[in-house]
Amino acid sequence: MSQKVAIVTGANRGLGLETCRQLGAQGLKVILTSRDAEKGQAAAAQLTAQGMTVEYHPLDVTNEDSIQQLKNTVLERHGRVDIVVNNAGIFSDPKEPWTAFSANIDTLRTSMETNVYGPFRMCQVFIPIMQQQHYGRVVNLSSGMGQLSEMNGGVPGYRLSKTALNAVTRIFADEARGCNVLVNSLCPGWVRTDMGGPEADRDVSQGADTIVWLATLPDDGPNGGFFRDRQPIAW
Ligand SMILES: NC(=O)c1ccc[n+]([C@@H]2O[C@H](COP(=O)([O-])OP(=O)(O)OC[C@H]3O[C@@H](n4cnc5c(N)ncnc54)[C@H](OP(=O)(O)O)[C@@H]3O)[C@@H](O)[C@H]2O)c1
Repeated sequence: MSQKVAIVTGANRGLGLETCRQLGAQGLKVILTSRDAEKGQAAAAQLTAQGMTVEYHPLDVTNEDSIQQLKNTVLERHGRVDIVVNNAGIFSDPKEPWTAFSANIDTLRTSMETNVYGPFRMCQVFIPIMQQQHYGRVVNLSSGMGQLSEMNGGVPGYRLSKTALNAVTRIFADEARGCNVLVNSLCPGWVRTDMGGPEADRDVSQGADTIVWLATLPDDGPNGGFFRDRQPIAW
């Protein structure tokens, strides 16, 4: 079989970039995407210089045309899509005050657009290709902040979006069943990135471990699950 093709969203920095690095190190062909072309090209060049097969493509997950263009280009050049890592995400709740009482509904909408409808569109576009190939792995970057079993107050935009993203995982995992397409969510832990901040207790390498594990699951791997540190966690 030809080299597997993996698409990673929001990959110019943070967990997305590290995921590309770890997938590239395993010999996969990586399509590193970002909405800022200059930053994405620089990130891809950095990995190519380390001997990995990495290609840059622009992608804004809130833009339907942008997703379609990505699909067309990747199919034209490579003829397949094996892995999609829905990593792009935003934390748009204001730092203070960040209660549900003070939340601006537009902030909630913005969070949903990137963190939920973006991955939803990616699943709509790429899972049918995976079904035809009888192989596919989709990884959705969720968060412990989206766990209903642990749900507390604060940051409603981010929390709502990650809970809803877990529903996206369950819905597509069920609809894609039977075609060797595995769709899963994970929480990477608290990771030192622009989003996680310098106080976080994990580096990107630890944070990306479960992402890459889910992206490369064997055919008998889990489907429709939620994981941290390669272990199932409560929804
Ligand atoms: N860090 C943590 O502790 C932590 C914990 C739990 C879950 N997560 C999740 O892990 C994922 C990655 O987080 P991170 O910590 O690496 O964050 P990050 O450093 O802030 O990176 C986020 C990435 O998403 C991109 N992005 C944002 N909106 C986009 C859009 N509309 N289209 C395409 N790309 C877009 C950003 O691009 P720009 O550079 O253009 O802004 C950036 O590359 C997120 O989904 C996050 O919610 C992180």
